[in-house]
Amino acid sequence: MINDIYFDKFPQLESERLIFRKLDLKDALDIQLIRSNDNVISFMDSEYHKTIKDSENFILKNLDRYKAKTGMFWAIIEKTENIFIGDFAFWNIIRENHRAEIGYTLKPDFWGKGYMTETLIQLIDFGFKNLNLHSFEAEINPKNTNSEKALVKIGFKKEAYFKENRYFNNEYLDSEIYSLLETNFKKGKEN
Ligand SMILES: CC(C)(COP(=O)(O)OP(=O)(O)OC[C@H]1O[C@@H](n2cnc3c(N)ncnc32)[C@H](O)[C@@H]1OP(=O)(O)O)[C@@H](O)C(=O)NCCC(=O)NCCS
Repeated sequence: MINDIYFDKFPQLESERLIFRKLDLKDALDIQLIRSNDNVISFMDSEYHKTIKDSENFILKNLDRYKAKTGMFWAIIEKTENIFIGDFAFWNIIRENHRAEIGYTLKPDFWGKGYMTETLIQLIDFGFKNLNLHSFEAEINPKNTNSEKALVKIGFKKEAYFKENRYFNNEYLDSEIYSLLETNFKKGKEN
């Protein structure tokens, strides 16, 4: 069973270089900067945030999912400078299956430094051990090699390739589903 205590008190967590705190309305400008950046949004197949209002609405929807116990959304903070560098979500917790769909972004200045690997390891470990999830899922655009690399590195396996299953911006797009079970989870430095 999912451990619901984390829906009463938000799980703020940390790793070697990062703090993971609750994503809140005060993060709207940072979210807008990320989600209006062409490099970030190009393979995400999700809405471009034209204004800060778009980002506030996005955050409010996420806070509602947390209240409904079907989502958990973190801001990723770099410890030494205390700056917002990205976000990470169990954006759809499928309670009956003890499964969560994940999503994440980093500001481009912070790519290639291992921050998403560090985030995935910390938050997925929390998901298995503390929240009592059984599996994770990530749906990605097949061209999103950065995202694929980060997933595969920690043990996600490709389980499906769907042809033109998504209609977005007037075109049909392919997508891939990656999944992770705890037995395949590689979280140590030795991996
Ligand atoms: C997907 C995304 C988060 C991946 O970010 P990233 O920085 O490439 O991912 P990582 O944190 O795993 O870092 C990877 C690289 O950092 C480097 N790195 C790893 N550990 C490191 C460390 N401790 N110190 C310094 N550098 C390190 C490595 O070069 C590594 O690449 P490699 O494994 O191929 O050698 C980023 O590309 C992004 O925000 N994309 C746009 C949004 C998006 O597509 N989201 C996903 C939608 S499904």
